[in-house]
Amino acid sequence: MTITHVSVDGISLAVNEIGTGEPILFVHGFPLDHQQWQPQLVALEGWRRIAPDLRGAGASDAPTTGYGMSRYADDLATVLDARGVDRVVCCGFSMGGYVLFEFLRRQRDRVRGLILCDTRAEPDTEPGRQGRDELARLAEREGAAAVAERLLPTLLSDATRARNPGLVQVVRAIASRLPVQGIVGALRAMRDRVDSVPLLSEIRVPTLVVGGSEDPITPVAGMRAMTERIRGARLVEVPEAAHLAPLERPELVTGAMRDFLLHASFG
Ligand code: MLT
Repeated sequence: MTITHVSVDGISLAVNEIGTGEPILFVHGFPLDHQQWQPQLVALEGWRRIAPDLRGAGASDAPTTGYGMSRYADDLATVLDARGVDRVVCCGFSMGGYVLFEFLRRQRDRVRGLILCDTRAEPDTEPGRQGRDELARLAEREGAAAVAERLLPTLLSDATRARNPGLVQVVRAIASRLPVQGIVGALRAMRDRVDSVPLLSEIRVPTLVVGGSEDPITPVAGMRAMTERIRGARLVEVPEAAHLAPLERPELVTGAMRDFLLHASFG
């Protein structure tokens, strides 16, 4: 894995890259960084796997202000330009999916295909928006570790937490390392994101939707409805996984991705 640093508006974004071939862009969720894609980055040989840390996460800088879905999406465009990539298959997890919807609105011609993991097109409800503010206050008061502990039971299923303490530790470590300003920025960006449901019927590229059957954050029923709105899309439901299906059931999720990447007709 190589890491390069891409400068945008005076901040540095860390971009992790492995392999050669047609490019895939992996966009992580919250409260996470590119490491959430580790199994897929290792296994999807034959593709150039590009996994940035969004501003405010991982090894990227965390400015105090300037977060939003449009900013994250513009950052991705800058990262692709800097890495010499024009058109790309895009894979987003949860908040990464929200960012990709914005990327599609801005850079539609660059998207060759889509993999949407445990995400949704709807904006936050009013109680959901209040929940974002409450979590931001928790982050400011008690730090990233408190946010990690709050979210772990929704990120990983009961079975994963009981059987795989090593994975719990990995996710806890990633989430606990996030800078508070990155957490608060991401929460506000998610709180203020626009409705992407109208976009779904306009998507014209091969699309795979993957979701954990026990996901409490983006429930599978919603992902089924999202799939039905995207022309030709297919849903793979991952059993015994909550929100973080790509890490909880890596073999199933990677297998579904590999199958999609091998057989879809990307333009
Ligand atoms: C994520 O995994 O990116 C977030 O949980 C998404 C959300 O809270 O809406």
